[in-house]
Parts: sequence; C-alpha cells; structure tokens
Amino acid sequence: MTNVSLQCRECKKEYDPTFKYICDDCFGPLDVKYDFPSITKNTFVNREHTYWRYFELLPIQDKSNIVSLEAGMTPLIHAKKLGEELGLNNLYIKNDTVNPTFSFKDRPAGVAVSKAKEFGLSAVGCASTGNLASATAAHAAKAGFPCYVFAPSDIEHAKITQALSYGAKYIAVDGTYDDANRIAAQIGDSKGIGIVNINMRSYYVEGSKTLAFEVAEQLGWNVPDQLIVPVGSGAMLNAICKGFEELQSVSLLDDVSSMHMVAAQPHGCAPIVDAYKNNSKDVIPVENPDTVAKSLAIGDPGDGRYVLKRLQQYQGLAEESNNKEILDAILLLAKTEGIFTEPAGGVSVAVLKKLVEDGKIDKNEKTICYVTGNGLKATESLMEVLPKPEVMKADISQISAVVQ
Ligand SMILES: Cc1ncc(COP(=O)(O)O)c(C=O)c1O
Ligand SMILES: [Zn+2]
Repeated sequence: MTNVSLQCRECKKEYDPTFKYICDDCFGPLDVKYDFPSITKNTFVNREHTYWRYFELLPIQDKSNIVSLEAGMTPLIHAKKLGEELGLNNLYIKNDTVNPTFSFKDRPAGVAVSKAKEFGLSAVGCASTGNLASATAAHAAKAGFPCYVFAPSDIEHAKITQALSYGAKYIAVDGTYDDANRIAAQIGDSKGIGIVNINMRSYYVEGSKTLAFEVAEQLGWNVPDQLIVPVGSGAMLNAICKGFEELQSVSLLDDVSSMHMVAAQPHGCAPIVDAYKNNSKDVIPVENPDTVAKSLAIGDPGDGRYVLKRLQQYQGLAEESNNKEILDAILLLAKTEGIFTEPAGGVSVAVLKKLVEDGKIDKNEKTICYVTGNGLKATESLMEVLPKPEVMKADISQISAVVQ
C-alpha cells in the first residue's frame, strides 16, 4: 500500500485522500500525490497482464476494492507499414481499441469505480461523449453499482446501445457535452453519486497515467521522443505527462523532459489548438462543436489550460484535422496496420501525418501515436464514404468474373 494525499495543482495545499476534488482555498483541481515505496523494474515482471500491475502507482489502498475488467497492457505495435507510408522509421501505435469496452476509458473508469467502492459510495455515473459511458457502466455492472450516464443526445448509436446493455440509466441530454457535464455535476453533488470524471476526477485521471507506464515498459523502460495524443477535455494528455514524471521520480526512467507532447484535436472542436496557435494562455470555449469525432466534441475542456502548460513544458505542438482527413486516416491505419479505430484515433493519425508532411517530426524519432477507441463504435460516418457492396446472385460465373 502506497501513502497518498491530494494536492492542489495551483496553490499546492495538501489534503487527506477523501471524496474531494477541488481546493477549498483557490478552487484549483486536486491531484493525487504519492509517497512511493521503493520500486524497480523487477517489481512488475511477473504481474498480471492488466494496468493493475502498477498497483503501487495507483491510488487504491486495499486490493480487495479493485473492480477489474482486466483492461490495459494493450499492444504497442511497431507500425512499420504505416511508418513507411508516412516516412517514419520508429512509429509505434498504442492500440487501446482492444480494451474490454473498446476504448482507453476503461483505465480511468476502472480506477474511479474502484475508488468509489473504497469510499463506500453506492452509485456511480459520468458525463460522457460516448466512450466513458460504457467504461463506467461496465465497471459499475461488475461492482454491482447503479450507473447514471449523462451524454449529449447525438452520439453514435453503437455507444448508446453498448452503455444500455451494461444496465446504465442513460440520460440523453438535449444539448452539448458541456450541458450534460453541468447537469451531471449538480446531480453528483446533490445525490452523493460518484461521478467518475467530475467529483471523482482526481482519482479518475490516475487510470489514464497507465498509458504512460505501459508505453515505457513496452519500450524496455525507455523514454519516447514524440507522443501524439487525441484531446477532448485534456485529462488524458495531462495524465500521460504525470505518469512519465512519476516513473522518473521512482528512477524507472531517465530524464523525461526531452519528450515532445502533441495535442491532436478535430477541426470544429479544437479550442486548445486555437489557443496554442494564437499564443494564448486561455482556452476560448467552442459553443457548438461540429465534428465527426464526437468523442472529442468537448467545447469547454476542463484541463485545457493545463494542456497548454504541458505543451510549453514539453516543447509540444497542437494541431487539428478536418472530417475528411480524419476518415482518410482511419482507412489508412486500417489498411496498413489492420487496426480499426473510431474518429478519435483518426484524429491522432491525421495530425501525425500532417506533422510529418510539415517537417515537424524527424523520421528517426521514437514516435508514439495513441489510438484510443474502436472503429466498431462509430461506423455511421465511415459508411457514408465507403463503397456499398453490390448484392450479387449466388451465381459462380457472375461472381468469379469480379474476383481476380
Ligand atoms: C476515444 C477517445 N479518445 C480520446 C478522448 C479524449 O480524452 P480527454 O477528454 O481525456 O482529453 C476521448 C474522450 O472521451 C475518447 O473517448
Ligand atoms: Zn489551491
């Protein structure tokens, strides 16, 4: 068991690790701070093949509270064919499409639901652009908790079907993600529900850190050069940085300050990219997001300001891609590496392509492209651009004529 506390990201005031997420003094967000035990590379060698292998680096005090769907330890693919296509020699895809609910959200949701169990809460929920809904609902199902999902009403059909199947009470809000988020915050506070990405956020983001731990371990405890991260609220990008920094603090990695973080957003909802390009410290919210990448359609990103700080800290970049570039990138990834992603992953690949074309990534740099959600969750937009198969009679002569 690791000693943990909460610490304000702004004024650094420390608190006991309770069901709390905002600083009393300055309203800054609270982060989990650890007093790590001695850890070596050997610590993890014979552990389970899930992100819970990093238990000492996560904020759960008692292992019996872990609610696990065995997520994590997803493949880090040396993407030689895609790399060749783009002109990169050292490209790796972190394939988080293969998690139990088919997105990286199983990481933060699993940690938050486990912490809700540890706190003795009796219900959980989330505000979601689609993927967190299923991740929270599935972990809640496993834990035996009721789960309340608040999501904009226009998200993809498969994501709604999936969350409902796990038994979630699904509240489709007639509005944007930010509207759903505001309602979820009020309900969480008034009803004492653990809303994983709002009042449980300090613990929730810890799960996403494992995207750094796994990449570091899969690279043989080496520091990558470039990391392309799809950004909605910005929580994941910030957590990945925290994860690498913690590995350095326990001496599992050398200096991580040489890494470059890239924030990838879709055109139509790219407030962080806009701020970055305007050299502004403030993120101006997008009122009505309009993009095929619905999972990234967060107009008012909670961690936006902190992503800008991270980009500065890690000599990073922010770039956007439009709907056509996103759909093209989904097909490029599928056709070169056999990985089928939803538009969020398409945003990562499309931005990566653009940066290589603009000469902003060197061909020999160790580049990690995070692909965070599965293509089967969002087929509507692709079906519009893919050729529909022609229905043919079961007649061998006709069919053999179209097979080379
Ligand atoms: C598949 C996928 N990738 C990336 C993100 C962005 O994560 P964050 O909101 O932490 O920036 C999301 C958010 O919902 C997502 O569903
Ligand atoms: Zn504070």
